[in-house]
Amino acid sequence: MKHLLSTRDLSAASALRLLDVAEEMSAVGEREIKKLPALRGRTVVNLFFEDSTRTRISFEAAAKRLSADVINFVAKGSSVSKGESLKDTAQTLEAMSADAVVIRHPASGAPARLAASDWIDAAVINAGDGTHEHPTQALLDAFTLRRHWARIGGNASPGTTLAGMKVLIVGDVLHSRVARSNVWLLTTLGAEVLLAGPPTLMPVGVGAWPCTVFYDLDVAIAQRPDAVMMLRLQAERMNAAFFPSTREYSRRWGFDDGRLALLDIMGLDDTVIMHPGPMNRGLEISAAAADSPRSTILAQVRNGVSVRMAALYLLLSGDTHDDDQHDDE
Ligand code: CP
Repeated sequence: MKHLLSTRDLSAASALRLLDVAEEMSAVGEREIKKLPALRGRTVVNLFFEDSTRTRISFEAAAKRLSADVINFVAKGSSVSKGESLKDTAQTLEAMSADAVVIRHPASGAPARLAASDWIDAAVINAGDGTHEHPTQALLDAFTLRRHWARIGGNASPGTTLAGMKVLIVGDVLHSRVARSNVWLLTTLGAEVLLAGPPTLMPVGVGAWPCTVFYDLDVAIAQRPDAVMMLRLQAERMNAAFFPSTREYSRRWGFDDGRLALLDIMGLDDTVIMHPGPMNRGLEISAAAADSPRSTILAQVRNGVSVRMAALYLLLSGDTHDDDQHDDE
């Protein structure tokens, strides 16, 4: 595979291969010297037309741990404000010998457009496009879930899937690229996915997705999920007239202290709480839930570096074999 644009493009085997390589990359992070020479002489360009904290920094850390050179482009303060097109921006960066372009863009489909064009030769990685997809977020979520599944089930061997796991995704599914990428990836890996959110924040056609949809969060929690993934209410993608009352939203759809206690009452001792970040504490998730021992939020951020190292390594090194060759580097 030359590009990473959508989790729909990943077979179970290719997703598991990436997660297994990410485990090996994570072991590198435990070493005294946390660097591999695998991508020495390669250049990774972070091309961000939308704000980001985790994804951009995580791709930069991942590329640097693999010894690649990194160029960071942020649209704010660039010649985009003078009307420069995506084509001209991309070709300008390609002229600086980019081997991979990691792109975040407000327009759904922008990474695919770049990958399909003859504007650049570089590998294209989708770092979030509009409301469409965020494949590396879903991969790091799957990595985090797989580790949790291994911890409670005792099976941490390479190639382990998420079969038997129940994951509940809650909130503003309509605007969530994270939800879309997770639905495709987690179901490919064998998990059962449940969605819960207000009808106004569910996409048209959600009934055809490979998951069960709930319009009452407490009924969804009663299904005894192994993980609850809270989504941010994406005000920036909504018409202000449609923005729900925050108090009402929080009461009906927030993972608040009451719902945190409910997990204990239900005996769901191993259920984890996830959030891709950034969070609106007190709106879709309470501070107590975000900071509780059940929270995997910081583990997700940590795992993001290993997963992005694996993605860059597999796309740029040409290693498509199930061997350990990068262990020796
Ligand atoms: N989860 C995520 O994409 O976070 P950032 O917007 O901070 O990159």
